[in-house]
Amino acid sequence: MKVDVLLGLQWGDEGKGKVVDVLTPRYDAVARFQGGPNAGHTLEFEGKKYVLRSIPSGIFQHGQINIIGNGVVLDPILFSEEAKALEESGVDLRSILRISRKVHLILPTHRLLDAASEKAKAGGKIGTTGKGIGPTYTDKVSRNGLRLGDTLTADFEARYEAARNRHIAQLKALGDEPDMEALTATEAKWMESIAYIKTYEIVDSEYLINDLLKDGKSVLCEGAQGTMLDVDFGSYPFVTSSNTVCAGACSGLGVAPNKIGEVFGIFKAYCTRVGSGPFPTELFDETGKKIRDLGHEYGAVTGRERRCGWIDLVALRYAVMINGVTQLIMMKSDVLDGFDSVKACVAYRDKTGKETRHLPFYLDDDNFEPVYVTLPGWKTDMTAMKSEDEFPAEFADYIRFLEKELETPITIVSIGPDREQTIVRKNK
Ligand code: GDP
Ligand code: IMO
Ligand code: MG
Repeated sequence: MKVDVLLGLQWGDEGKGKVVDVLTPRYDAVARFQGGPNAGHTLEFEGKKYVLRSIPSGIFQHGQINIIGNGVVLDPILFSEEAKALEESGVDLRSILRISRKVHLILPTHRLLDAASEKAKAGGKIGTTGKGIGPTYTDKVSRNGLRLGDTLTADFEARYEAARNRHIAQLKALGDEPDMEALTATEAKWMESIAYIKTYEIVDSEYLINDLLKDGKSVLCEGAQGTMLDVDFGSYPFVTSSNTVCAGACSGLGVAPNKIGEVFGIFKAYCTRVGSGPFPTELFDETGKKIRDLGHEYGAVTGRERRCGWIDLVALRYAVMINGVTQLIMMKSDVLDGFDSVKACVAYRDKTGKETRHLPFYLDDDNFEPVYVTLPGWKTDMTAMKSEDEFPAEFADYIRFLEKELETPITIVSIGPDREQTIVRKNK
């Protein structure tokens, strides 16, 4: 058996959580492979809404195993809060969740370093989620990190203190004087949360997943963030600190490249971004505001306003290529249901008038402008539709146009936030 991978093709918040939940019944296990509580994955069903941050989105179906893989960074305090809330709402999390002993831990001082580093950047701020993601991955790569498995060793507290003292020196170098009283209180909570995590099954998730595959079981890998936030291929330096692309599933779970099956690439029918950084198709006018209002484009984690714009096919083609996407999933087309026309950016034009379909090194809109095509809107409320046979002709044309531009089939269309508002296309 192979693993299938589902990942975001834009700047995150494409609707990954919803679709993982919808697809989970097809699988025996679901696994997160990178990122941490910077993610906010929203699921809606039976009139209830859940936002998951570190826990995979496959927990609400029928007892599938959900795995937090080695590529994830875990904040013990936030994890405990999330897990306890789910247990209280009736999810038997303990029986289905497995956590890799190789996950790196987000320390309280990582969050302080995230804030201090943003402050030091002043005008060049990344606009991070403030969850300590960058400093934790920095410690991982510089070989200073602490992993969940380390908490089981006798000298863990000493190693923790050494890491914390190193962080305090770094904070001071950034001109920050941490509030030691507040830090001590957070640390006590952090240690309690570590004790709580240890009540879950901590595993060698690379063995678990490969054994599942050997036994003929199927696994869905759930990406966080999106390709344009990938540390190698995104709009660097305005990115997150992990590999959000398909290759990240290999390193973040211990799955060999020849074990990757389908790659589901998920995108919105338009485009959004939170935080700073270039966004070529961003709209600053009434249309952008309309998309934000109709799409409720506010961050699931931070509540921040999401920047909105038209779909960018230059960036999407790039994302399809880097990830080897085999199937596309289009989300939130309902947000455009009332529009007279919709636009799609098919190329970029530089200052000399030259057009390119390649993503430039610097994505700043000072260097080029998007080239748009305008397509007729479908002007039909599609949110109650059950099958693609009901699609208005203009919408069917829009799908065909995107499939041609992206050279990949769109197999699922999402027409509302609820689990039920999902159309799986026939013969695709
Ligand atoms: P994720 O991070 O990729 O899981 O996406 P988020 O949960 O951060 O953001 C997606 C938002 O859009 C959530 O509020 C979802 O409930 C909502 N959503 C998902 N699919 C649809 C859809 O097809 N239509 C509409 N209107 N909302 C959707
Ligand atoms: P999901 O999984 C959207 C953005 C932040 C910031 C940059 C770096 O819900 O799609 P970080 O805290 O990771 O160091 O922030 O990345 N960002 C996201 N944007 N969705 C996310 O996750 C994001 N996770 C991080 O806004 O611009
Ligand atoms: Mg999100």
